[in-house]
Amino acid sequence: MDKLTLDDVDVRGQRVLIRVDFNVPLGTSEDGRPCVGDDTRIRAALPTLRHVLDHGGKAILVSHLGRPGGQPDPDLSLACVADHLGTLIEERVRFSSNTVGETVEEVINGMSDGSVILLENTRFDSGEKANDETFSKALADLADMYVNDAFGAAHRAHASTAGVAEFMDVAVLGRLMEAEIEALSRVRDDPEHPLVAILGGSKVSDKLGTIRALSQTADDLLIGGAMSYTFLQVLGHDVGASRVEADRLETAEELYKQAEETISLPTDHVVAEAPEADAKSSIVEGDIPEDLMGLDIGPATIGAYRDRILDAATVVWNGPMGVFEVDQFAEGTTAIAEAVADTTDDGAFSVVGGGDSVSALTQSGCADRIRHVSTGGGALLTFLEGAPLPGIEALTDA
Ligand code: 3PG
Repeated sequence: MDKLTLDDVDVRGQRVLIRVDFNVPLGTSEDGRPCVGDDTRIRAALPTLRHVLDHGGKAILVSHLGRPGGQPDPDLSLACVADHLGTLIEERVRFSSNTVGETVEEVINGMSDGSVILLENTRFDSGEKANDETFSKALADLADMYVNDAFGAAHRAHASTAGVAEFMDVAVLGRLMEAEIEALSRVRDDPEHPLVAILGGSKVSDKLGTIRALSQTADDLLIGGAMSYTFLQVLGHDVGASRVEADRLETAEELYKQAEETISLPTDHVVAEAPEADAKSSIVEGDIPEDLMGLDIGPATIGAYRDRILDAATVVWNGPMGVFEVDQFAEGTTAIAEAVADTTDDGAFSVVGGGDSVSALTQSGCADRIRHVSTGGGALLTFLEGAPLPGIEALTDA
């Protein structure tokens, strides 16, 4: 690692500001209160938290949740996350409804070593997304050192992910960050071949840089999800009423031409009039009739993609193959989850990231069989693209 890590600092007696990514799905508890819907990201932060607590530091956790637009939104409070974390670590977790300021400073100064507090959603302050100096400095004033463990938010140059580091003497990588960087570097910089990359999801525009980068290193780039229809249209196929990014056709064409030998597109599709549970679906090969939309990859594509995945020595997957939230369009995504798990059982190194792909893995009971389940979506794509991540760049050089 070219950045300092927790191994390089002594946290004993120190106030340690830990940026975590607790941007988790929320649900409603039986008694009608907000609760954590999926705690994968919270659990992923525990090694760093345990390190700080077990070594006698005061842990000050800070995170965003959702996109409240720079003002308080009670529906996006982190209060229920503090309760959930307390249950996980079986210790008291204080919660501060202020993110910065004198009141928080006083509470922190009164905390004993080895205790933990979670601060309210950083995005309740407009200074967070603006990477505002005043807000960054106010965060820095709370602590003696800074740890960034929020890999999922590392592609954001915000006050709590990047700006704050400028005002701290020491800013280091947390354990989750280290694990993510190690696993993703193995895919990006030193993959064992064949490297098979699977990219899905709705928008090609989110993945242009990643497709470009992976098409240089991967042996196979398997495309699924709505973004495949943008590519299929530029290749002259009729895609019916499928979702197409009309303003990206030229870029998609140019990308496809550069990587024609590596990129595979679906050859058959599950189609329907609408992405709804009660819509009548069918399977078509090749072109899609005018009034229908492609909503999942078809069985022939599943078979072809599965064969490539089973041959892989390294496999990376981001993005669903269809509208997997609706059962009748989930088969492609589930089949990819199973194929990635099966090839891992056969010895391949596998990385899966992105909320939808990880949910599909969890739903199909395959998550434990994957070598690295990334907490990053956009951050994972940015890393694989080779672009700098501000949340890592801002930390102290080793
Ligand atoms: C994520 O869920 O990808 C991260 O927490 C970043 O969230 P954002 O896309 O709202 O910045």
